[in-house]
Amino acid sequence: MSRVLVCGAAGFIGSHLVERLLADGHEVIGVDAFTGYYARWRKERNLAGALGREGFRLIEGDLARMDLEGLLRRADRVVHLAGEPGVRRSWGPNFPKYLERNVLSTERLLEAAVRGGVERFVYASSSSVYGSDRGGPVREEDPRRPASPYALSKLAAEELVGLYARERGIPATVLRYFTVYGPRQRPEMGLSQFISAAYRERPVKIFGDGSQRRDMTFVGDAVDATAAALDAPPGVYNVGGGTRASVDEMLEAVRRVTGRTVEASYGPAAPGDVRSTWADSGRAARDLGYRPRVGLEEGIAAQAGWAASLESLAGATA
Ligand SMILES: NC(=O)c1ccc[n+]([C@@H]2O[C@H](COP(=O)([O-])OP(=O)(O)OC[C@H]3O[C@@H](n4cnc5c(N)ncnc54)[C@H](O)[C@@H]3O)[C@@H](O)[C@H]2O)c1
Repeated sequence: MSRVLVCGAAGFIGSHLVERLLADGHEVIGVDAFTGYYARWRKERNLAGALGREGFRLIEGDLARMDLEGLLRRADRVVHLAGEPGVRRSWGPNFPKYLERNVLSTERLLEAAVRGGVERFVYASSSSVYGSDRGGPVREEDPRRPASPYALSKLAAEELVGLYARERGIPATVLRYFTVYGPRQRPEMGLSQFISAAYRERPVKIFGDGSQRRDMTFVGDAVDATAAALDAPPGVYNVGGGTRASVDEMLEAVRRVTGRTVEASYGPAAPGDVRSTWADSGRAARDLGYRPRVGLEEGIAAQAGWAASLESLAGATA
């Protein structure tokens, strides 16, 4: 068992990972800046199950500014999930935030990791580095063609991780998650919007014609891969869910699961949204023992159950 630093611990994926690592007997130091990308109360709630548990400590701080060397000296391994997500908001005036939170913060962490010496540095990257697939599953060595400033910032960060692995000896792993969903999903993501619209009996606006497809990964499966990466050989791994669905199919599944009717209207595709994502997760299966276990309908039901409890608690709070 070791001491793991989880950056972005209060976020959607980070908070699930913290719980998993604690359950596996690790000591966990969580860091989070509670950025304003979405509401602080949601992040506090994400961590409600972990706070107060033995072996867990939360430090509120911004990776772009805080002292990291002391922190890295206290950790054996690092999982770096902190960042500014979201394709659509990454254009234009918001870009400096993406540079700071995705690129500069990663560079600061890597520098501190060189000095602190870590056994493993796992970086949460994204399928968006590939751009759209070209009609088949993408493999790790396929060309990267980012289609948004967000994707570019994730690619820059994972290139930094690769650079520090090659030149400075950091044992580093890059995980390219494909659209992650499930309880605690960020509120601006598609499924979250659909489920919330169903419960509030509001219409949804879909960017594009609804035929765009995503490889969907249940958060518990993404966490399995991430926890396994702490012990597995360093490398770059796709983490896909093994289920692909169009936006229209996801909306239909939300209607079935919630038993509500949701009206949809369609508008132009958002710049940077790709047509299709499709993972070849064979390498993760081989080296991480990764086997996605949760299918789409089951995963959406879990997310809808969680969202229903949140709706009743939070009323109409966004
Ligand atoms: N959710 C997905 O579908 C998905 C897909 C691909 C990649 N990813 C990547 O996985 C990671 C986690 O995503 P998520 O969906 O859980 O996002 P999230 O926004 O819920 O979590 C990220 C957390 O990082 C924190 N943070 C941001 N900048 C920080 C900084 N400078 N210092 C300290 N904390 C900071 C935020 O406050 C937030 O709690 C991100 O790096 C994201 O790019 C997510």
